Amino acid sequence: MPPLTIRPFVDFLLLLGLGSLIIYKSSKPPQLTETSWPNDDSVEDRVTATQNSVAFPRTFFTSILHTKSPAGFWMFSKLYLHKGTIYAVAPTWAEKESYPDLKFILAQPKKMGPESSGDKAKPTEKEMVVLTADEAKSLIGALENAELLGGLSIILYDVNQFMAHYYHWWGELMLGTVKSYSAAISSPPRHRVVPLEPSQFITPHVANQSWRDRAGVNKPLMQAAFPGASVEDKGYWDKLQNTNQTFVFEQAMIVSRIAAHKHPLARSWGKMIGSTMNTTVPLGFWEPLRRRVVQNMAKRGTNQITSLITPRGRASKKEDSLLKSSVLSHTRKPLVLYISRQATPHRRLRTEDDEDLIRALEALDIEGVCEFQAVKMEKLNFQDQIKLIARSTVLIGLHGNGLTHQIWMPSSPQSTIIEIFYPKMYLHDYEMLALNVGHKHYAVWNDTFVTYPEGETFPGTRTGPELHSVTIPVQGQTVAQIVRERLATPAQS
Ligand SMILES: *[C@@H]1O[C@H](CO)[C@@H](O)[C@H](O)[C@H]1NC(C)=O
Ligand SMILES: *[C@@H]1O[C@H](CO)[C@@H](O)[C@H](O)[C@H]1NC(C)=O
Ligand SMILES: *[C@@H]1O[C@H](CO)[C@@H](O)[C@H](O)[C@H]1NC(C)=O
Ligand SMILES: *[C@@H]1O[C@H](CO)[C@@H](O)[C@H](O)[C@H]1NC(C)=O
Repeated sequence: MPPLTIRPFVDFLLLLGLGSLIIYKSSKPPQLTETSWPNDDSVEDRVTATQNSVAFPRTFFTSILHTKSPAGFWMFSKLYLHKGTIYAVAPTWAEKESYPDLKFILAQPKKMGPESSGDKAKPTEKEMVVLTADEAKSLIGALENAELLGGLSIILYDVNQFMAHYYHWWGELMLGTVKSYSAAISSPPRHRVVPLEPSQFITPHVANQSWRDRAGVNKPLMQAAFPGASVEDKGYWDKLQNTNQTFVFEQAMIVSRIAAHKHPLARSWGKMIGSTMNTTVPLGFWEPLRRRVVQNMAKRGTNQITSLITPRGRASKKEDSLLKSSVLSHTRKPLVLYISRQATPHRRLRTEDDEDLIRALEALDIEGVCEFQAVKMEKLNFQDQIKLIARSTVLIGLHGNGLTHQIWMPSSPQSTIIEIFYPKMYLHDYEMLALNVGHKHYAVWNDTFVTYPEGETFPGTRTGPELHSVTIPVQGQTVAQIVRERLATPAQS
């Protein structure tokens, strides 16, 4: 069984930025034309010669747009779909024979659990088949008669157990997609960042748009990140499936959680995105998307603070005005943001230690080392949460979904994630985000900490019931010392 950790639903509540009432006008997805495809020539290079099949122009054949694809995130051009089955069409027998093992490309999506392990989640002939051109003709009809689905379609083979969750959607599916896309289209030495502009996302196994999380975070972020793309669910897939027509995706990326977990690195990191950890990408591959999300969220947001129903009730007037000033104020000092979980039912600091931590960090603020803010995210509306994160340099918090917000924090030589664990516990979730988006990560255990140089990490994972303790110890001075050292490094590299 893949060593997956599922964050409890409580984590959503933390992020309940219910102010995210964004009015979104759905628009027709822009179609990527050949000329707008950013890196035409390098894509062409990867199309295999078709000397044995003169009957079809080479543009009809499927090609894989990676040389070494990470498991679970594969990008293709000309991928066929007929009655719900995906077909790759290879120009020759030899090429068909050399196709990667399909279990690394997609699997029957299943709820995670013992039943999804082993062979049970292998792709069957219902999911995907590789054909030669001759076989294609009798099975799916003449390739040239296929109806074109233009642009890049991202097909998410996953179940809503994971999709409807901020970390799993953004920290794994989307981050992994953007990373794999960047790897696929940028070939050295021309390492430049090309923003991902899909025409649509499809969730074939999730009906009624239930990929959206209940906290309402995933959808506004999708609208801010990909304003031109729609998210189509099972209803759309069923329509494509219930005809005799063959469709062809101009470009498609297949994202499959279970296939990703077949990769050895996904096993050692304990997360699907682990399969991309050794993928070479241009530096800053995430930045164009980050910036777009932050800008689009800011345009839509208001600065109004909404008081939300939280385990502790409504924010007081005084808290409201404090929070309001924390979002709006701009000092030149780097912002150190502590995301407090003290109003949530699980994973809290000892009350004295929470106070001690705040005192130690406030002392740094008074000394002029930084600007310091402690916030309970559930007291801020979602746009304001993103604004605050977007101007932070150091993010401090207990292990939890609040740390997913780091993907909207700008990367710099000083940018830092300080994750507090119950002593000796270790999970890689937020460290992996930090590594991917370019922040230095520290795990703090009361009065000690660990951090790793590039290419190294804590061996394995360590977890237990104490992870969720409500009396987690931490020494404020230990955290303050890390902040002091990190902010002493030059801000520009
Ligand atoms: C989706 O919604 C339709 C009606 O709106 C309902 O009949 C169907 O059962 C729902 N499907 C799922 C999987 O919830
Ligand atoms: C699809 O093809 C089959 C066999 O040729 C035929 O029986 C069926 O009516 C067709 N279905 C549609 C929706 O055209
Ligand atoms: C990933 O990269 C590291 C460092 O370059 C290397 O030591 C390791 O063997 C690689 N792992 C896999 C599974 O490729
Ligand atoms: C945390 O560290 C402090 C200071 O070193 C120590 O006194 C305390 O016992 C530690 N608490 C735990 C639970 O380890």
